[in-house]
Amino acid sequence: MAPKVMQLLESIEAIVGENGIFEDDARGVGAIVRPASSDQVSRVLKLCNDAGQSIVPIGGNSTMVQGTHRGRGELALSLERMSMIEEIDTESRTMTVQAGAKLQDVQEAAEKNGFFYPLDIGARGSATVGGNIATNAGGNRVIRYGMTREQIVALEVVLADGTIIPMQGKALKNNTGYDLKHLFISSEGTLGIVTRAILRLRTLPTSQCCGWVSVPSFEALTKLLTFVEGFSQGMLSSFEVLWAEYYEFITGPSCPHSPPIPYGDPYTVLIETQGMNQKENTSSFEVMLSEAFSEGLISDAVIAKNMAERDRLWAIRDDVNQAIQLAPIWAFDVSLAINDMEAYVDEVKTALNERWSKNSLFTYGHLGDGNLHLLPAVGDGSNETRIAIERIIYEGIRKRNGSISAEHGIGHHKTAWLSYTRTSVEIALMKKIKQTLDPGDILNPGKIFGEDPCTILTE
Ligand code: LAC
Ligand code: ZN
Repeated sequence: MAPKVMQLLESIEAIVGENGIFEDDARGVGAIVRPASSDQVSRVLKLCNDAGQSIVPIGGNSTMVQGTHRGRGELALSLERMSMIEEIDTESRTMTVQAGAKLQDVQEAAEKNGFFYPLDIGARGSATVGGNIATNAGGNRVIRYGMTREQIVALEVVLADGTIIPMQGKALKNNTGYDLKHLFISSEGTLGIVTRAILRLRTLPTSQCCGWVSVPSFEALTKLLTFVEGFSQGMLSSFEVLWAEYYEFITGPSCPHSPPIPYGDPYTVLIETQGMNQKENTSSFEVMLSEAFSEGLISDAVIAKNMAERDRLWAIRDDVNQAIQLAPIWAFDVSLAINDMEAYVDEVKTALNERWSKNSLFTYGHLGDGNLHLLPAVGDGSNETRIAIERIIYEGIRKRNGSISAEHGIGHHKTAWLSYTRTSVEIALMKKIKQTLDPGDILNPGKIFGEDPCTILTE
């Protein structure tokens, strides 16, 4: 190790203590730094900034886009020692947390106090609040409560030069100049380190109904969404659609789930409503599905009779790892107008068929948010295949004015395609902001607009 780096690590250790730093030699990357307070984060960043040392923030490591990818010699910054839930304020309906707190711990703490933290993603057990904020995580209840951005009242952020931007207080409203916190939400750790947050809490629903329905056509699917939104009067909390090819895989012989309803329709949907009265909620849910059936919007339905059945339905929806294990497979996270989805997915499937006679295209998503996950299992895992698939997926998105990432971000993985979603004017402005806040480019370098990893794209 170069003497300069040794010296820097010694200075960092003097700030964070022996427990606050350890080498990650096995992977040939730099040490992991684990500060225990915002003040320590500030002092570490100042040192790194002065030394021109790159530092990559890591949360629960559930990134799907290599958002925490580290090059040789780059340090990692983990807030795992800053995971305290500092306060639950039942009058302001807020929770103040350190950014290393795990999402599930936040959800459970809210619930214990009679409140609800509505953000929910499959990786809830490992993902941290800081990671959720850095990526503006979305997930399963966005249709009702919005993405992470909508759950944030205030943030404490440490800038690259060590400046601490303090938390702005618990009021939801603050229209005094630029709302700076929004700059850091979804910045993927490139503009500053979020160290603490005041989260917005909601009323804890005391009833819920969950069902799985099959839908005979795309037209019926969009009508069903409008119908259940209207019928459930604000209580709809999830509308998660699975295309048949994915439904048949995830409930098929190679996966540990059995199909809640028979195969045969092109789409199935997990629908959940949450309310305050179980009896009323259940009866209205049943009427809703029966009317949908009469209108021809659904052809079959099953309703969970208890929490165990509800959890079994959600386990099917959340068990994406079954597909991800099938290498080679590629995971995409796009958004586009709902009206365009049917044609888009058909077009992708046709393009895959033309090039690879053997392929699977697993499609599912948060339809109400215009967000689809496409997982093509195809090809040989080579970089060339990856680029060919990306081109198929992203060309269709570009021409429909969609986004190449609805919720997972750009990370290191998608930098080459940013211009498919953002104009050159927008990218130039983003780079100006980055230059202003992190002129030394020490914070999560190579993410969002890092170097183009696919030279072929310059064709
Ligand atoms: C999901 C994650 C992958 O919705 O975004 O399953
Ligand atoms: Zn998702």
